[in-house]
Amino acid sequence: MNGDPDVLTLVERPAVEPGPGEVRVQVHRSGVNPTDWKSRRGSTPGATVNPAQVPGQDGAGLVDAVGNGVDVALLGRRVWIWEAAYQRPNGTMQELAIVPVHQVVPLPDNASFDLGAALGIPFLTAHRSLTVTEDGPQRLGPGTLQDRVVLVAGGAGAVGNAAIQLARWSDATVISTVSSAAKAQSAVAAGADHVINYRQQDVVEEIRKLTDHGVNTIVEVAAATNSAIDAAVIARYGSVAMYADDGGSEFTLPIRPLMAPNARWQFVLVYTAPAEAKARAVDDISDALLAGAIRIGAEVGMPLHHFALEDAAAAHAAVEESIAGKVLVDVR
Ligand SMILES: NC(=O)c1ccc[n+]([C@@H]2O[C@H](COP(=O)([O-])OP(=O)(O)OC[C@H]3O[C@@H](n4cnc5c(N)ncnc54)[C@H](OP(=O)(O)O)[C@@H]3O)[C@@H](O)[C@H]2O)c1
Repeated sequence: MNGDPDVLTLVERPAVEPGPGEVRVQVHRSGVNPTDWKSRRGSTPGATVNPAQVPGQDGAGLVDAVGNGVDVALLGRRVWIWEAAYQRPNGTMQELAIVPVHQVVPLPDNASFDLGAALGIPFLTAHRSLTVTEDGPQRLGPGTLQDRVVLVAGGAGAVGNAAIQLARWSDATVISTVSSAAKAQSAVAAGADHVINYRQQDVVEEIRKLTDHGVNTIVEVAAATNSAIDAAVIARYGSVAMYADDGGSEFTLPIRPLMAPNARWQFVLVYTAPAEAKARAVDDISDALLAGAIRIGAEVGMPLHHFALEDAAAAHAAVEESIAGKVLVDVR
């Protein structure tokens, strides 16, 4: 059902067995993202299942049952879950979630359920955004972004934080824009080399001081608001990965100046990104987890806000009101 946060109500339902190709996960944490409230309001294309849906794309927990055709070795495994509620009624905000097996990924022992539930939407989006550049890599990892400059707009946001962490792990020079001193601290904690306050500084001038050749990849949350900045700093063969329309939904670009660098403005929607790109992202995120290169919490600029399952509506409201940090629902 669509509407305000209070359409989210807690109900008892009988446990369901997983079907062929599915697993059942005892969910410990459900991660909340803007897509969840947008979907609840009925505004995310394809993501709404009416009349009723258990929300929650992201989560982490233990596999407690497997369907036909699924390796029984998965039983009891700690996993993280991605896109559980995309065009499905069965999201992660419930004690037992049925998920297609390819949407659960082993969670290493060094990674908490909090971290596992924070990965899906933010990190898959960040990975896609960092790998759409024409002369850039399709895989991330140490050295893959060496000698390249990445600009992360809004580095204190969830996707921005993920992009900074992945770009730092991949040895890029990372510049981030923020709107306050507190958000600057968050971006630095995530791993940004340089932070620019877009409310107080001239972003283009500051970026030009930092790089001779411009920015290879821009991870862009506000494509319309920042279009003039992005056009002014993009490097040859560079790309602007636009994953949100925060601040404005339409923009214009100067065609001739952007022909010279063969620049690319690339739209990004995680749900409909190519399956191969998402598979590469899942693999790279798994490697980063094992290496301890991606983290969650205030120490990396992503403070945690825990809510009880009974308070799911408050968790959604917090994200809808743009709370800084990661909202998690403690399902058990
Ligand atoms: N396309 C996709 O697949 C995809 C995937 C994930 C998320 N999204 C969308 O992306 C957006 C952000 O998601 P999120 O989870 O990262 O949200 P979030 O944690 O609330 O972060 C949003 C960030 O954007 C920053 N921002 C807004 N306007 C800006 C500007 N002009 N310049 C620089 N930064 C700016 C905000 O910082 P200030 O307020 O300080 O400026 C904030 O830090 C949402 O609209 C979400 O729906 C899309």
